[in-house]
Amino acid sequence: MRFNNKICLVTGAASGIGKATALSFANEGAKVVVSDINEEAGNLVVDEIKNKGQEAIFVQCNIGKREDIANLINTTIHIFERIDYAVNCAGIAGKVSLPVHEYPEEDWLNQIQINLIGTWYCVKFQLEQMMKQGGGNIVCVSSAAGLVGQPENSPYAASKHGVNGLVKSAAIEYATKNIRINAICPTAIETPMIMHGRRNLAENPIALEQAKNHQRMKRMGQPQEVADVVLWLCSDQSSFITGHCMAVDGGAFA
Ligand SMILES: NC(=O)c1ccc[n+]([C@@H]2O[C@H](COP(=O)([O-])OP(=O)(O)OC[C@H]3O[C@@H](n4cnc5c(N)ncnc54)[C@H](O)[C@@H]3O)[C@@H](O)[C@H]2O)c1
Repeated sequence: MRFNNKICLVTGAASGIGKATALSFANEGAKVVVSDINEEAGNLVVDEIKNKGQEAIFVQCNIGKREDIANLINTTIHIFERIDYAVNCAGIAGKVSLPVHEYPEEDWLNQIQINLIGTWYCVKFQLEQMMKQGGGNIVCVSSAAGLVGQPENSPYAASKHGVNGLVKSAAIEYATKNIRINAICPTAIETPMIMHGRRNLAENPIALEQAKNHQRMKRMGQPQEVADVVLWLCSDQSSFITGHCMAVDGGAFA
């Protein structure tokens, strides 16, 4: 019960990595703010947490909208009075595979708006609150595409490189303020985003095999394996780690 009675905020918590993270926090005693653009799926996660006997609320938030994020933080403070841990997991992947000069402008801008600018607003408002309360801990869910380039997926890679730059800069700025901030950079994790996304792995056995082979372990990662790293980064067991962008990659970058 590393997070007993702690207040944990998770964006993108209705599915995949965010959902596994929200449920894991609850399993370890936390009160969880489940946030997502998808109200129906988010409320199901809240029900699941309440069925475990833990406290949770759902706050709908499109991280592409500054006012939604401000409302998320204000609602959390109104109900729970603080944010001990914030996990910024909400994000989108591109729908097409195209080189830079052919990439649709609207899709490029939208990925930057949600993955980078949205994450920046989340971090900015969380830091404002954590400064007021005297400390806190933030983890941003970036990507392996934040560590190396990803051909035909440039806006996604650019947005995730941006998240890593944000995390490293903030880590230095707040290192002596009792606030840690880290990023995790997963490769292929078996969630709806990747199974039904750009390469539609669920219905494309060749692409699925390629995705598995990219990891040295020759398999996809599971959302729980990522959530376990997020919770470790939030926990006191990682107390000397800040500004790290940690690959969770089955050995892909070894
Ligand atoms: N699955 C992978 O292989 C993988 C690899 C590297 C990084 N990631 C990152 O992990 C994070 C979570 O992805 P996932 O794989 O769990 O996908 P997912 O599709 O299962 O979950 C993403 C969640 O984010 C929510 N969301 C989407 N846009 C939003 C918005 N504008 N505002 C608020 N919520 C929004 C969705 O409703 C969904 O519940 C993303 O940031 C993604 O880029 C995933």
